[in-house]
Amino acid sequence: MNDFMYHNPTKIEFGREKENNIGQYIKEANIESILLVYGSGSIKKNGLYEKIIASLKTNGISYEELDGVVSNPLLSRVNDGIKIIKEKKIQAVLGVGGGSVADSAKAIAAGAKYDGDVWDFFIHKAEITEALPVFTVMTLAATASEMNGNAVVMNDETKQKYAIASILINPVVSVVNPELMATVSREYLVYSAVDIIAHSIEVYFTATLHPNFNSRIVESIIKTVMETTEVLLENPNDYEARAEFAWIAIQALNGLTPAGTEGGSFPNHMIEHSLSALYNVAHGAGLSVVIPAWMKWYENQNPKQFKRFAKEIFNEEDSSKGIEKLEEWFAKIGAPVSLADVNIPRDGIVELAINANATASMWGIGEMYTVDAIVNILEKA
Ligand code: NZQ
Ligand code: ZN
Repeated sequence: MNDFMYHNPTKIEFGREKENNIGQYIKEANIESILLVYGSGSIKKNGLYEKIIASLKTNGISYEELDGVVSNPLLSRVNDGIKIIKEKKIQAVLGVGGGSVADSAKAIAAGAKYDGDVWDFFIHKAEITEALPVFTVMTLAATASEMNGNAVVMNDETKQKYAIASILINPVVSVVNPELMATVSREYLVYSAVDIIAHSIEVYFTATLHPNFNSRIVESIIKTVMETTEVLLENPNDYEARAEFAWIAIQALNGLTPAGTEGGSFPNHMIEHSLSALYNVAHGAGLSVVIPAWMKWYENQNPKQFKRFAKEIFNEEDSSKGIEKLEEWFAKIGAPVSLADVNIPRDGIVELAINANATASMWGIGEMYTVDAIVNILEKA
């Protein structure tokens, strides 16, 4: 096992009706004013908005609002949030929604403490040295944004979908009530399952050192996601399955699975972010297109781990069977598995590869993932 430092400062409040305590959690952190960030209306339809406001009022927390955060969240909306915070001297940010809302809340929190353009953090022109405290109430389980320091935002002008990562934007407290997730659409449930699997397999396949424990956590995550997804597709109100799904989503990207491994990278995410940036494809939908293609391209780089995957997940001896079975499962649950499935034409591949290669360079994997290599991968999709 490699040396590592593992520090996750986020407190998770997990369970039924915990959203009613959000005002209390914020007050306990000595905060009196927040910017409430949310999406395009789901929290108003299901009554969550009223509950949040009531909890804030009961605890004497004043608030301003920023609504309209979209999936593949936009830098322009993040800047709107930063402006409100600076004008009104607000102390913290509360995101109520899915990963797009949580990520926007985090970017706002970092930008609010910075005199320059928040995009500087995304292009590595500046480092986050300070941020406002972030709180979240999660309504969709997929990204683990509720318990990590990542935020992914799309620059609407340059069409770059880039990420920041800092422990300073890990949420202070995240409320995870699985019941709030019962209204997530069938399509987003499927995308979420793919995203969780993606978070698990990136380092599992790309690391050069694989402690058994880490591999086994990943295999457990994948098997349990597959089982619970199938239960939830049948019955979206199954609390036990919903709760396991929500907790697994968090474990898949809160720093646990790579701790002690070596040399892992996130090539599927690197490529997918370009599908989202240029074609506004949902993150999970882009991943189910990229993953089987990337696996076929990468298989020979780590044959032992691909063989292990096939055996542990699908009880198959042959590693290419493991890839085939995963692709079949994606298709079975209704996830897209080709560029055509998400309406991306073949002649869009080169532009996608150029866009993705820029991300690869920032993530330190530009040498392996040249434009040509990414074209090769996407040709398989
Ligand atoms: O906007 P609203 O009305 O809230 O609707 C959302 C949105 O349309 C809806 N939704 C959320 N909770 C719901 C619900 N609808 C009904 N009932 C509920 N309880 O679902 C739609 C999708 O929401 P979104 O937040 O976009 O989904 P997700 O959580 O999958 O987040 C995706 C974003 O996170 C980024 C992705 O790139 C993408 O931009 N990622 C963030 C990561 C991180 N912070 O660590 C890592 C990931 O790999 C990923 O890159
Ligand atoms: Zn992801």
